[in-house]
Amino acid sequence: MYTQALDLQTPVPAATGSAAPVGQDLREHAFNARLADGQKIEAQDWMPEAYRKTLVRQISQHAHSEVVGMLPEGNWVTRAPSLKRKAILLAKIQDEGGHGLYLYSAAETLGTPREAMQQALLSGASKYSSIFNYPTLTWADVGVIGWLVDGAAIMNQIPLCRCSYGPYARAMIRICKEESFHQRQGFDSLLAMMRGTAAQRDMVQDAVNRWWWPVVMMFGPSDGQSVHSAQTMNWGIKRISNDELRQKFIDATVPQAQLLGVSLPDPDLKWNASRGHHDFGAIDWDEFWRVVGGDGPCNRERLHARRTAHDKGAWVREAALAHANKTRARELGRAA
Ligand SMILES: [Fe+2]
Ligand SMILES: [Fe+2]
Repeated sequence: MYTQALDLQTPVPAATGSAAPVGQDLREHAFNARLADGQKIEAQDWMPEAYRKTLVRQISQHAHSEVVGMLPEGNWVTRAPSLKRKAILLAKIQDEGGHGLYLYSAAETLGTPREAMQQALLSGASKYSSIFNYPTLTWADVGVIGWLVDGAAIMNQIPLCRCSYGPYARAMIRICKEESFHQRQGFDSLLAMMRGTAAQRDMVQDAVNRWWWPVVMMFGPSDGQSVHSAQTMNWGIKRISNDELRQKFIDATVPQAQLLGVSLPDPDLKWNASRGHHDFGAIDWDEFWRVVGGDGPCNRERLHARRTAHDKGAWVREAALAHANKTRARELGRAA
């Protein structure tokens, strides 16, 4: 996923409408006309600074979420219950690392160096999805992350394949294909456990009980509280509102939970025939903001792990740079 925390920073100024008044910057007029026509904006195209800044913030936070998202599941690689499950988990975690790399590359096309984005993550200045600040206590948590966290991510990310910024939209098409495998492997793992012993079924139910509400929060604040939503929708970055996506996710997940044989921990969750959707209980937004603000169960642990990995990887970056410089010098020598 994982774009939930992306509407959270300082508001950006509104863009102008699609009809340019006399004297208005022609470039801005052309930009708005392209958006209105459903065309993609590419890296070399002129764009308003606020659009560029919003995209850098959103794409870099998305990249951070992919990378930090490797940590909760990485915790279980050495304890996977079989070789098959270990191979699947390793492949999934590797995919998430790849998603982070695609997304840093997409953000770099907007002129922000990767190192600056990574420093913003390590200093705590840039957010990542709050869902990764929860612990993975049992093997069932790994299955639930695939089923629910990747499931919510897909719901959020499919509309991003139609994002107005070309490099982001194209990265999302590839990422979404992989995310759907992630969701299915999680469901498959849980199904195997639900067909096992009573202790395994209890473990799955316990994991669902702990993850359900944090996953429902992944879609971000309600539309009325989401400071960026209207502008990002006008710009064609976001296509469906937080509340609509949350409702779609809940409606899609209820029958899957029934198929698995688990209950979802919400006594107010019931089908509302007149709305054609499920009603659901109140979200604990205090918990959401606490975790986004840095005080979740694992915030410190996650940042510490990333900082340690970054420090330990310094020699690899230096070696790669030295090799690139030597190769360039050799090529220049040959050309001279
Ligand atoms: Fe991913
Ligand atoms: Fe994933």
